[in-house]
Amino acid sequence: MKLAFAGKGGVGKTSITSWMADWMARSGQNVWMIDADTALSLGQASGLAADELPDPVSSRSDLVRERIHEEGFLNLNPEVGDLPEELAVEVPLYEEPFPGVDPGKKRLLVMGGLSNAGGGCACDANALLKALLAHMVMDSDDCVLVDLEAGVEHLGRGTAMHVDGIVVVSEPSMRSFQTASEVGRMAFELGLENQVLVVNRYLGGTFPELEHLPEEQFSMPHLPGLIERQMSDGNVLNLPESVEIDAKMEMIVRSLQKMTRA
Ligand SMILES: Nc1ncnc2c1ncn2[C@@H]1O[C@H](COP(=O)(O)OP(=O)(O)O)[C@@H](O)[C@H]1O
Ligand SMILES: [Mg+2]
Repeated sequence: MKLAFAGKGGVGKTSITSWMADWMARSGQNVWMIDADTALSLGQASGLAADELPDPVSSRSDLVRERIHEEGFLNLNPEVGDLPEELAVEVPLYEEPFPGVDPGKKRLLVMGGLSNAGGGCACDANALLKALLAHMVMDSDDCVLVDLEAGVEHLGRGTAMHVDGIVVVSEPSMRSFQTASEVGRMAFELGLENQVLVVNRYLGGTFPELEHLPEEQFSMPHLPGLIERQMSDGNVLNLPESVEIDAKMEMIVRSLQKMTRA
């Protein structure tokens, strides 16, 4: 299953991507986590120390030169099939696999922002990121989870159409719901019709009825165990609330699977 995670900044996209990746790997699937947010926090949320994070792809000016400026001319459709294995780091599982399950591998690829793009103009690095993202979404047999910056602009039409679904994350606030509905609309226009809404840090109450808000809706409660953990550690895995988190991840995946089959 290939999923993208989008929504306003600070609503919980990175945390939910980390939880989902860990749940999938413990359920026996190989997972590629793709950090496509310039804030670069997916690795830390999944328990890696700063010095264990992979180099952002956009900072690899050698690769940008080699693949995009191939033999002197611009190649906007570069060969990138070897890059995921070469650039990703393996991320340990923080909890036991589910009973009787042979756990999958969890790997992290960091795309990086365009501002720190070395070698040539930012559009060259952008071409490499786009090609790599498209390759992962279209050609990989494994699960691919893309932690996006706020919107879905990164995906592009071709890539979006090959994603199985989008998880739109919102806080229980009107401004965040408005961003979520905007993301839902943009994703739909890109051809990404399988959408779920996750209202994170939910404390009760009904959700507003906004046009384009995904119809399939879930909530994730406010997690005191996570608040306490974040005081000393960026890792969001292996919390006192893990059983509850796992149950939510399973519900979200089942719902998206149903839509994919429909
Ligand atoms: N359900 C929750 N309960 C409590 N704190 C949460 C919850 N979800 C996320 N957080 C905290 O909120 C902050 C932002 O979450 P993050 O996943 O980084 O958001 P985003 O990727 O959307 O910017 C983090 O400090 C995270 O630990
Ligand atoms: Mg984030």
